[in-house]
Amino acid sequence: MTAQLSKKSEAWSARFSEPVSDLVKRYTASVFFDKRLAQFDIQGSLAHADMLAQQGIISRQDHADIQRGMAQIESEIAAGRFEWLLDLEDVHLNIEKRLTELVGDAGKRLHTGRSRNDQVATDIRLYLRSAIDDIVVLLRELRLALVDLAEQHAETILPGFTHMQVAQPVTFGHHMLAYVEMFGRDAERMADCRKRVNRLPLGAAALAGTTFPIDRERVAATLGFDDVCRNSLDAVSDRDFAIEFCAAAALVMTHVSRMSEELVIWMSPRVGFIELADRFCTGSSIMPQKKNPDVPELARGKTGRVNGHLIALLTLMKGQPLAYNKDNQEDKEPLFDTVDTVIDTLRIFADMARGITVKADAMRAAALQGYATATDLADYLVKKGLPFRDAHEAVARAVRACVDRGCDLSDLSLDEMRTFSPLVEADIFSVLTLEGSVAARDHIGGTAPNQVRRAIIEVRKQLS
Ligand code: ARG
Repeated sequence: MTAQLSKKSEAWSARFSEPVSDLVKRYTASVFFDKRLAQFDIQGSLAHADMLAQQGIISRQDHADIQRGMAQIESEIAAGRFEWLLDLEDVHLNIEKRLTELVGDAGKRLHTGRSRNDQVATDIRLYLRSAIDDIVVLLRELRLALVDLAEQHAETILPGFTHMQVAQPVTFGHHMLAYVEMFGRDAERMADCRKRVNRLPLGAAALAGTTFPIDRERVAATLGFDDVCRNSLDAVSDRDFAIEFCAAAALVMTHVSRMSEELVIWMSPRVGFIELADRFCTGSSIMPQKKNPDVPELARGKTGRVNGHLIALLTLMKGQPLAYNKDNQEDKEPLFDTVDTVIDTLRIFADMARGITVKADAMRAAALQGYATATDLADYLVKKGLPFRDAHEAVARAVRACVDRGCDLSDLSLDEMRTFSPLVEADIFSVLTLEGSVAARDHIGGTAPNQVRRAIIEVRKQLS
């Protein structure tokens, strides 16, 4: 690192009588993490230069020189030959300096009517827009994988839980579609956040705007922004869009984490509802029998860091007076890590969803325990005319008797059943089956196989 601390002069050096120490240089530099914005920085600069030339602020020749220099810089970066210097603090100054080396004065004219403050805000927005587009694609892939799984198991029955106690039977397809809904809302949130990301800060310059006759709409159109930021002070200091993105990302991870928790429970040999493909699990270095669900556990763990990044950005912002402050340089690492974590996690989950083997027999056996059809018996009595509270009481007594005898409701004879309510008739036995229970919940949002198939058609339509 010391080798890179050469005697190169900084962009503002004429104002200063002594150089900053090496420690301060390292402390204030961002190049080692913001260099990943390079392609967006170049894209923004090219759009700015095009506008400057169009408005007659720089010459056509300068414009051509800037384009040529930037093309060379792009290829140097792509080939890993670009020399990033800590001395030059950040991605913006590194690229500008190299441009000037390559094309001379035209490089020095590029920064006319612009500041790093509106430049960096533009770069982050371009970066985040592209990240959001990737995330939306991955959310779609994950939803498609879950829909396929739901379709294969539209009729597979497992116990549904409340308070982690067996509640009522549900179909596994229905259970998977619950996650399809969650990830659908996540995609909506990402798309909505994108609208506020996709506005152009350039033109705000340092904070107050610029004295040059710029054309912001042209730059916005070139870069594919929907609008320009309407207030220069806000344009350079607003990071709401990044915070909003991190909140949406935290919800994505929260959904992933809930699903992970279920996968871990389901895969425990005590439960044995699913198997995960071996490529998502690891063994133990000491216990040869183990197959651990590392991927879902890690995803559950990584949710913590994404939540942390959201809090980091909120805290970063809360004390800042208008307009730009150097604090904002700290927005990048949390944002980058959030994007990386969400993208990697979604990619793995879309693949993992296709590597889930459902053990329908174990699910069914579990659903047969715990009196999962007790509500069906109560509903039956209500349909025969008993008020619901009385029906609830009658069934509670029946369950109590079964618990004492160690049997299921459906093991009681008709006569025994009638001791709890004389309204019970022979047709009760079909009501108490798991299939009867799920099939009876046949309305929009219900767990019946019919409704699962219907919902799958709807989601597929949405995703096509
Ligand atoms: N590296 C800085 C950042 O990430 C760029 C903007 C710096 N502007 C300034 N006036 N120091 O925010």
